[in-house]
Amino acid sequence: MAAEQNSIHGLWRNRWLFILAATGSAVGLGNIWKFPYITGENGGGAFVLVYLFCICLIGLPVMLAEVMLGRMGRQSPINTMTAIAKDAGANRLWSGIGWMGAVAGFLILSFYSVIAGWALAYIFRMAGGMFEGASAEVASTTFGNLVGNPEVLLAWHTIFMVITIAVVARGVNQGLEKAIRILMPMLFVLLFLLLGYALSSDGFSQGFSFLFSFDFSKLTGESIVVALGHAFFTLSLGLGAIMAYGAYMPSDVSIGKTVVLVGILDTLVALAAGLAIFPIVFANGMEPGAGPGLLFQTLPIAFGQMPAGTLFGTLFFVLITFAAWSSSISLAEPIVAWAVESKGMSRAHAATWVGVAAWVLGIGTVLSFNLWSDYKVFDKTLFDLLDFLTTNILLPLGGLFIALFVGWVMHKSDVAAEVRMSNPTLYKAWMIVLKFIAPVAVAVVLINGLL
Ligand code: PFF
Repeated sequence: MAAEQNSIHGLWRNRWLFILAATGSAVGLGNIWKFPYITGENGGGAFVLVYLFCICLIGLPVMLAEVMLGRMGRQSPINTMTAIAKDAGANRLWSGIGWMGAVAGFLILSFYSVIAGWALAYIFRMAGGMFEGASAEVASTTFGNLVGNPEVLLAWHTIFMVITIAVVARGVNQGLEKAIRILMPMLFVLLFLLLGYALSSDGFSQGFSFLFSFDFSKLTGESIVVALGHAFFTLSLGLGAIMAYGAYMPSDVSIGKTVVLVGILDTLVALAAGLAIFPIVFANGMEPGAGPGLLFQTLPIAFGQMPAGTLFGTLFFVLITFAAWSSSISLAEPIVAWAVESKGMSRAHAATWVGVAAWVLGIGTVLSFNLWSDYKVFDKTLFDLLDFLTTNILLPLGGLFIALFVGWVMHKSDVAAEVRMSNPTLYKAWMIVLKFIAPVAVAVVLINGLL
């Protein structure tokens, strides 16, 4: 069956390159920009706990399922799901998982590129020494001036989309793989440096207890939906990105161990970002619930005060940009791979079309922060709506269907042969999660949160 095929798009040369690529996809704006600000908006510790719970109990098992499906199908998620559903004698509707994911990936790409554009813009603001000795007020005004200016945002969004598409068009092996090999470890080092700074700052104990003291009275139905959605977002699950990468994974690699490693790295980066940011928030009397601008209004203050801060700050935003870059290419990959396989397009051609369309839609996000900021539906701007629809609804739904498909529809012998888990108890536990726990949890959270 399909397992014997090779991917027409190529394979990762070894296990580490898969880990690097999957971590590159997982670690991105979700960890460094989004996790701190949604934690701030949702009251801190209790939210973090629910999020960690979602990662371990639902995220990792679904990730294992996605990688397994990808490697078995060896094609784009749309075609993989169609082929595996056929092999399993199941309804063709299951290929809808691939379609829904491709659409979600496209929508996320459109706004992801705009936010990544902020990070790009900050490289130059930092390098220009704009934040040397800056107060909280200067940092907020600088951020406000950036997002208030649609032309400037559009320019950075355009640049980011072009570099994303350039990589997808060439295939992932050339270029990005080499760059992130050096840059991801550097990101870790710089995060640790910032952590050290935060540790010595006046606000550390307050920041620490904000992140890790669990006050459940602050949790609402919506915060649980946000935590679950973010678990999917941060691990790049539910839309086929990890399935697409799984399709390029060599057959002899252990999926289970690899997935756990990626999950741990991803979580560490998010927690480190939170620990670096909240002490600065409290030491400077800022608001933890400041929203999407949180990262951009806090870290520049820290860099502005530390020795050689201009250098480290510039480097830091370079690295965030790289983290976002390695994530955004994985957002485009599922739909581009499908167009190459099924529409006979060249990679370059397919990537260009996807990029242009996502760029156009991204203009809506650009305007959400300025000219259209007052146009709201359900109290949400277009950016908020796109984010909510994809992260909090489409990704968990994608994960739910993937769990049901692997748990209930596929032949167990095929699943077992592909994952080759050496520990039978773990395998059973995984199956129980996919069959019962993940679908019920996602359904309950979605229904409660949305109603
Ligand atoms: N995981 C990425 C982040 O945390 O920034 C975002 C992302 C990439 C989400 C790829 C979904 C995806 F398929």
